[in-house]
Amino acid sequence: MRFDFAQERLIRRDEPLSRHSTFKIGGPARFFSQPSDCEELLTALDFSSKHDLPWVLIGNGSNVLFGDEPYQGLVISLSCFEAERIEAEECDVRVSCGMSLPRLAQILAEKELGGLEFAGSIPGTVGGALVMNAGYSRDPGRRNEMGGRVQSVKVLSQDGVIRELKRDEIEFGYRSSNLEGKILIEAHLRLDRRMKSLILEEMKLNDLARSKTQDLCHPSAGSVFKNPGHAPYTAGKMIDLAGLKGFGVGNARISVKHGNFIVNMGGARATDVLDLIAIARSKVKEMFGVVLELEIRHISSEAMTAAHG
Ligand code: EPU
Repeated sequence: MRFDFAQERLIRRDEPLSRHSTFKIGGPARFFSQPSDCEELLTALDFSSKHDLPWVLIGNGSNVLFGDEPYQGLVISLSCFEAERIEAEECDVRVSCGMSLPRLAQILAEKELGGLEFAGSIPGTVGGALVMNAGYSRDPGRRNEMGGRVQSVKVLSQDGVIRELKRDEIEFGYRSSNLEGKILIEAHLRLDRRMKSLILEEMKLNDLARSKTQDLCHPSAGSVFKNPGHAPYTAGKMIDLAGLKGFGVGNARISVKHGNFIVNMGGARATDVLDLIAIARSKVKEMFGVVLELEIRHISSEAMTAAHG
């Protein structure tokens, strides 16, 4: 395969995907790119179309499970995409979708802009969090989701055209949106004026509450399953009631702290995690008659033929 100069600089071969997933699991990607701006992103996309390669987009790899076998295509990570670009005017902020959420929350605190305190401890990029409408709340009665602050989103097409999707064109659901599969480059968010000390206090309380209930001490991808809509309990509670906390396969196990977290105890393989997923699903189905739906995205050449361009 021939690379031109720009592609040679931009595209790595046989990159271990375990380095790009908070699970720290995953075999190599045949090709991997971490573009820092639109031009580099388009160069990477052009490379994939010239060589007829499947491609897949990730943010910070905080919600994905990569397979153990090589990914036979191009993985594009947007975690370095204009990662520090943010412009604020009054309560309106335009931010790159490549910025990390904790970084964004920190900058907003400095600017005394409130409303995204809940995002301070979600380890994703702005773009990834928008696509899955990530959220966190200490109060189970509130949803606190990314979509709640969005005014518009800029989307890049593979041929380089940037289009702005307005709020009323975007549909946000529970851990889902109609932005899935799109290349998100910028978000326009509307926030509220709030004192820095109050924002920081709120973020501290969130951190504290999260570390009490969720397993943040081992590599994971956060919640594995969505909470089913019409079930007696949350996914974590059902897995807990099924007696599976602490149950392991290989070097992966269901967290002793939270039933909806699968953690990597060191050197876990994707197949270990997939086995645990199957076991949890089957036990929960048997006990509660509920079919659990994955929240994490499984990315492998075998598992996905759809989620690319
Ligand atoms: N519970 C148990 N056993 C467990 C886990 C939970 O009994 O093993 C109980 C808890 O005691 C609580 C209830 O189940 O009464 C709910 O648990 P938790 O507060 O941890 O919330 P969750 O529904 O499991 C959801 C999101 C999290 C988010 C928290 C807080 C999903 C799938 N998960 O968790 O999001 O941080 O609420 O807002 O929606 C993520 O999406 O990756 C994620 C971590």
